[in-house]
Amino acid sequence: MKRILTNEIIKYLDQKVKVCGWVNTVRAHGKILFVDLRDRGGVLQLVCPPDIAKDLRPEWVICVEGKAKERPKGMQNPKIETGKVELAVEDLKVLAKAKTLPFAIDTSGYEINEEKRLKYRYLDLRRERLRKNLIWRQKVIQFMREFLINEGFVEVETPILTKSTPEGARDFLVPSRLQPGKFYALPQSPQQFKQLLQVAGLEKYFQIARCFRDEDPRADRQAEHTQLDIEMSFVEQEDILSLTEKLYSSIIKNLFPEKRIQKIPFPRISYKEAMKKYQSDKPDLRKNKNNPDELAFCFVVDFPMFEWHENEKRWGAQHHPFTKPQVEEFAETSSHLSPHSTSLNSAIKEMKKHPEKVLAHQYDLVLNGYEIGGGSIRTTNLDILTAVFEVFGHKKEEVKKKFSNYFEAFSYGVPPHGGIAPGIDRLLAVVLNEPNIREVMAFPKTGDNRDLMMGAPSEVTEEQLKELHIKITKPKGQ
Ligand code: AMO
Repeated sequence: MKRILTNEIIKYLDQKVKVCGWVNTVRAHGKILFVDLRDRGGVLQLVCPPDIAKDLRPEWVICVEGKAKERPKGMQNPKIETGKVELAVEDLKVLAKAKTLPFAIDTSGYEINEEKRLKYRYLDLRRERLRKNLIWRQKVIQFMREFLINEGFVEVETPILTKSTPEGARDFLVPSRLQPGKFYALPQSPQQFKQLLQVAGLEKYFQIARCFRDEDPRADRQAEHTQLDIEMSFVEQEDILSLTEKLYSSIIKNLFPEKRIQKIPFPRISYKEAMKKYQSDKPDLRKNKNNPDELAFCFVVDFPMFEWHENEKRWGAQHHPFTKPQVEEFAETSSHLSPHSTSLNSAIKEMKKHPEKVLAHQYDLVLNGYEIGGGSIRTTNLDILTAVFEVFGHKKEEVKKKFSNYFEAFSYGVPPHGGIAPGIDRLLAVVLNEPNIREVMAFPKTGDNRDLMMGAPSEVTEEQLKELHIKITKPKGQ
């Protein structure tokens, strides 16, 4: 007999069916045993003669056959989808027994020690709240994908084993066996690849991209996160902002209709104004912060191009070096046609003299006080790009060497382009009213970047190290 899901049972009243799943609860009622069976469809009440079900324990995996019957009036449970029906079990097979679980799975789970939840994540995910979060995650990603494909975007996968890209965090490095002494870096984002795809003529690229950053995790930060990575050619800042606004307002209207977006179009606030008015570059613009269904999106624009790194006593990029500084605005020049025009040159000189004054074509998407996305229009003029790196303290020649692939690619006809990368984990945490992004990820890591379930990171064998030409020098005392 073909298996049906518990929530399909209503279609089979008075017929014989087969259902499979986990024992949720067992209750004795006189001589009869009531078993709640859980599968991916929901929960269904089984009515079992004691002789075939008396040993059943919670979380055993079973398969039963029997007749679907309407429950007697007064015994119906309007709170659950299958509440009008029960299954009179005639045959029961135990497919797997289960030990007592290390924690309860019929609660929200917030009350349980999180390390324990992460160690047994596969059990934690049996919890309804987390299962639903994963399903919401998939719905949101599917919506994004369909929306962008309809807008003419092409989804392209980019490498995970690659070279360091400056996004401001530390890289995770992977040693190369075939090139001893050399390392790949896991991408902090596909930034350079998506720009090179514009040189390739793709024009509209997106990817649901995994990004890796070796930084200390926080409530809204993990070593691995997922971005909806977007890049477009022949666009200006406003084209990217309005596409993002259309996508995000459609996601909310279609998938979360109970939510109220405070203002469409999303307000555009300059960085300067945000800092002055709200003392934050990610202001929470909700009128009523206690209302869980209120969403206040805004774009923060015109960020400063550079920020001072006190530790290293040098300038760095607020976003990343490929962001276009607003120098051409001072220069009033068409830089592509006359890259050596005097006015552009003098604007570049001015930028090097006063980095603190230069703004960037950079924007963040902010929701309820969280930065849920960031992007920029990119520098395609190599004189400006070189000057940006010079402001960071690099020598001209050093820059050309380090980014030779980029410089060369841009000399073969580069379209003006820009993009954005909204973080999917943060969006989900906000719309699902979760206190941190771990609650919307299947297998997150702990606060010190360990995967307690898999036991990663872990030591490797001497042979593996030898093959990679790596020697471990342990700090003294270990
Ligand atoms: P940025 O570094 O601003 O931009 O990242 C974009 C968005 O990704 C999310 N995010 C994170 N989420 C969880 N954990 C993290 N560690 C983490 N780091 C970032 C945030 C953030 O707004 N390449 C550029 C984008 C571009 O210019 O197009 C980039 O990665 O929501």
